[in-house]
Amino acid sequence: MTVTRRTLFQIGIAAAIGTSRPGFADAPALLTRAIPSTGEKLPVIGLGTNRYGVTAPAEVAARREVLRRMPELGATVIDTAPAYGASEEVIGRLLSELKNRARVWLATKVTAPSGRPAEGRKMLEDSFRRLRTERIELVQVHSLQGVREMLPVLREQKKAKRLSYVGVTTSRDAQYSEPLEVMQREQLDFIQVDYSIADRNAADKILPLAASRGMAVLVNLPLGRGNALAKVKDRPLPAWAAEVDAASFPRLFLKYVVSHPAVTVAIPGTTKVEHLEDNLGAARGRLPDAEMRRRIEQLFDAL
Ligand SMILES: NC(=O)c1ccc[n+]([C@@H]2O[C@H](COP(=O)([O-])OP(=O)(O)OC[C@H]3O[C@@H](n4cnc5c(N)ncnc54)[C@H](OP(=O)(O)O)[C@@H]3O)[C@@H](O)[C@H]2O)c1
Repeated sequence: MTVTRRTLFQIGIAAAIGTSRPGFADAPALLTRAIPSTGEKLPVIGLGTNRYGVTAPAEVAARREVLRRMPELGATVIDTAPAYGASEEVIGRLLSELKNRARVWLATKVTAPSGRPAEGRKMLEDSFRRLRTERIELVQVHSLQGVREMLPVLREQKKAKRLSYVGVTTSRDAQYSEPLEVMQREQLDFIQVDYSIADRNAADKILPLAASRGMAVLVNLPLGRGNALAKVKDRPLPAWAAEVDAASFPRLFLKYVVSHPAVTVAIPGTTKVEHLEDNLGAARGRLPDAEMRRRIEQLFDAL
């Protein structure tokens, strides 16, 4: 079935979005989306952690503050990877110190270096150890490196209840033909892809295919590695942003991402608690409809 952008909007954003109070019982409700394969609901904004592999005490303290505050604010999804230096180790240690493991939803990644599944298995075991957990919510084949080798391993681990969901990731337009082929061929719980106001190519084929195949979507680079924000530096936020309850450009641009009906969770990377708080504002209030999405695109394209 071909799902066009128009069809996606006809599904109805309001119907697809709910609210819940994951994390702390007194946490503010964030907008949530359901994972198609199970119906489990996730807050639409999470956290990317490719700069969490730090050792300097001040830098570790800043990441600790983000991981402390995140569940208090109702957010849960944390995306990491063995490829992000010591990110998994730092996250595992900090979540353990903060006693926050049960309040977050962990996604990590795996590859099959040199095409050998045994190496991928070892990588996965190292992730469990570094994250200090017996169960990982989502494991994704990182940038499609070892799909054929690792998907059977991940499915076996899912059956053994050591992980809940299986997926693949990509973040480069030049690679898109490969995930499209994998998504057609394989039954996946999740795909992770780059999508932002600064790079909308995933909306052409990948997001519609994910919707039609019943796959949840994690969005990486939702702020275009921060470049989308650099373009609006020193520019005033348009008054009409208030119509979708966006009080800052990061919120407006993240609302643009999560208002695509195929998107489940966007994972902006941040190392600063004030940016986390700002970003989570995108998971509250109204979301752009199709007309408002066009207005945001026009604003950005005119810069
Ligand atoms: N193939 C893959 O699987 C793949 C590839 C790339 C990325 N990823 C995942 O996607 C995540 C997100 O990507 P990313 O972090 O590179 O790019 P991003 O989320 O598009 O942008 C992050 C940048 O924006 C800044 N930022 C975040 N919130 C802000 C705010 N409210 N105000 C001002 N600046 C803000 C961050 O700096 P501050 O730290 O100062 O906030 C950082 O420089 C990664 O962490 C990773 O988990 C996966």
